[in-house]
Amino acid sequence: MSRKYNFCAGPSALPTDVLNDLKEEILDFQGYGLSTMEMSHRSKEFVEIAETAKQDLIDLLQVNNDYEVLFIQGGASLQFSMVPMNLLKSSNSSCDYLDVGQWSIKAIKEAKKYGNVNVAASSADISYKKYPNPESWNLNSESDYLHLVMNETIDGVCLRDFNNLPSSNIVADCSSCILSEPMDISKFGLIYAGAQKNIGPAGLAIIIIKKDLLEEHPHLPAMMNYKTYADSDSMYNTPPTFAWYLSGKVFKWLKKNGGLTNQKKVNESKSTKLYSFIDGNDFYFNDVDKNSRSIMNVPFLLKDDSLNSMFLSESEDAGLLNLAGHRSVGGMRASIYNGVSEEAVSALIDFMKLFAEKNG
Ligand SMILES: Cc1ncc(COP(=O)(O)O)c(C=O)c1O
Repeated sequence: MSRKYNFCAGPSALPTDVLNDLKEEILDFQGYGLSTMEMSHRSKEFVEIAETAKQDLIDLLQVNNDYEVLFIQGGASLQFSMVPMNLLKSSNSSCDYLDVGQWSIKAIKEAKKYGNVNVAASSADISYKKYPNPESWNLNSESDYLHLVMNETIDGVCLRDFNNLPSSNIVADCSSCILSEPMDISKFGLIYAGAQKNIGPAGLAIIIIKKDLLEEHPHLPAMMNYKTYADSDSMYNTPPTFAWYLSGKVFKWLKKNGGLTNQKKVNESKSTKLYSFIDGNDFYFNDVDKNSRSIMNVPFLLKDDSLNSMFLSESEDAGLLNLAGHRSVGGMRASIYNGVSEEAVSALIDFMKLFAEKNG
């Protein structure tokens, strides 16, 4: 068996060490005689797995005591609804949203069902090629919160300037950048992330919410209320136990490998290598503003797009999987999350070099 290099945007590559560890435990978790998938979520063993995972995440992101960390099913898309349902004070209330790509559009569409949405900034007119500067955000002083997608996975556009963030209650979709580098959680009211990129298997979203935003909301279904999860250690019902367990292993792997400071170094090294190669070669290009480029999702185009399908089929033959761009934008995209090694990025660059030499 040989593992190939996986550049999928999600579900994405998991660290090989984590998968090897899983292989060891899959039939018999640490001598209990059963796998974690078969354990009661209320058992002492699973509660310990769950609590350890939560604490490791808190340590990695240095989450302080003002926040609750929640594990919720439904992916990041459910958060597009839960955020306005929980944070808008009434159906007449307002919220600010940045429109910085397709995930922003989906979030805005949901929020409009619950309140008045002010689009405070949009980069739609420049095809989402640049993240709007915080100075240009046109915020409504009456808004209950400001929602932004930190890293737009499809266009490879990311907020890099955290110095001038407004003092609003900021809600950030960090699905495709969480744990890629250290982050100052105290600048945010709530952050959320679907698991299947930098956290673990699909089936889980992590929510980090300021405790003072947790409210009763008697009209909301229990499963849609953040407080339900906060009051029950995210075990109001059966949580996605396998995803939680394996995410815990990813957190341990991150801690063992120098935490997020080291991860930032590795991710910057991978992305710099790839962008430098693309920029220095007239066969490929990336047209995202250099100050907005994502260190996790690197879209690129071939100058001659009639070669796209040949590029994709030959890259797959070379063991480089899932390099097609999102179906809505085409081209190529290499998602180089934490689970994608430096070696994988070097192999991709070697292939791109060879392909350009043969077809340029
Ligand atoms: C930035 C961002 N937000 C939200 C989503 C939706 O995530 P999910 O499929 O977990 O609902 C994605 C999925 O790729 C994403 O990249």
